[in-house]
Parts: sequence; structure tokens; C-alpha cells
Amino acid sequence: MPRLPALFPLAVLLFGMPPLDAAELAPGRAAELERLVLQDCGSCHGLTLKGGLGPDIRAPTLAGRSTEGLAAIVLHGVPGTPMPPWHPLLSEAEAQWIAEYLLNGGAP
Ligand code: HEC
Repeated sequence: MPRLPALFPLAVLLFGMPPLDAAELAPGRAAELERLVLQDCGSCHGLTLKGGLGPDIRAPTLAGRSTEGLAAIVLHGVPGTPMPPWHPLLSEAEAQWIAEYLLNGGAP
């Protein structure tokens, strides 16, 4: 049986990188962001996000895309298209949370 301190690096290795999302959000903000995604984003991307005026942004369709890339689209929009920039309403951490929400197909 190894002594506890010997296990510490292993624990860091296994559990070390905490997810970058929930911890940085204000309390209660995750529920608000989920509502925003379903209502505001859903108004263009469809109530189930499977596409409307905006394209399908469900998890299987977005598979392989990076959290950072999607968060940048959310923050800055897609110029020349109806996809608006959300940075007036959302922080970077919140856009990342939404990107993970989309990639996971639900709250992280
Ligand atoms: C006014 C309509 C509208 C709203 C509201 C809207 N979008 Fe979009 N969105 C679009 C359109 C149109 C595109 C496609 C842009 C293009 O042609 O590249 C798009 C593209 C995207 C993409 C890129 C998809 C891809 O495959 O590259 C993501 C991700 C996205 N939107 C997420 C969101 C999220 C998250 C929200 C809410 C915070 C949101 N959108 C709100 C219209 C909208």
C-alpha cells in the first residue's frame, strides 16, 4: 500500500484539470444561459437547435469542433450573416460554457 503523498501526483494527473466552465460562472447563471440558448439561440437555430434560419448546432453536427472556436463565433458572430455577436451580453467564460453546452448536448 503506497503512502498517501505518493498518490498525490496520480490524483492530479487523473483529476487535475478542472473543467473551465461552471466554476467561473456566477451562481444561478448556468440556468440563465441554458434558457438563453434554448430561447434566443433557438429563435434562429430552431427550438431543438436542429436548424432554422441558422444551421443545426446540435452536438453530433458540431462534433470535432473546438470549444474555443465555437465560443469565438458566439462572442463575435459571423459577419455578413444574421449570426449576431453576443459579447455585449456574455462574458468569455459564459461563451465557453455555451460552447461546451452545445458540444455536450446539455449542461456540462
Ligand atoms: C438572428 C439569428 C441568430 C441568432 C439569434 C443566433 N444565431 Fe447562430 N447563426 C445564425 C446564422 C445565420 C448562422 C450561420 C452563419 C454562416 O452562414 O456561417 C449562425 C451560426 C452559428 C454557429 C456556427 C455553426 C457552424 O457550423 O459553424 C454557432 C456555433 C452558432 N450560430 C451559435 C449560436 C448561439 C450559441 C446563439 C445564441 C447565443 C446563436 N447562435 C444565436 C443565426 C443566429
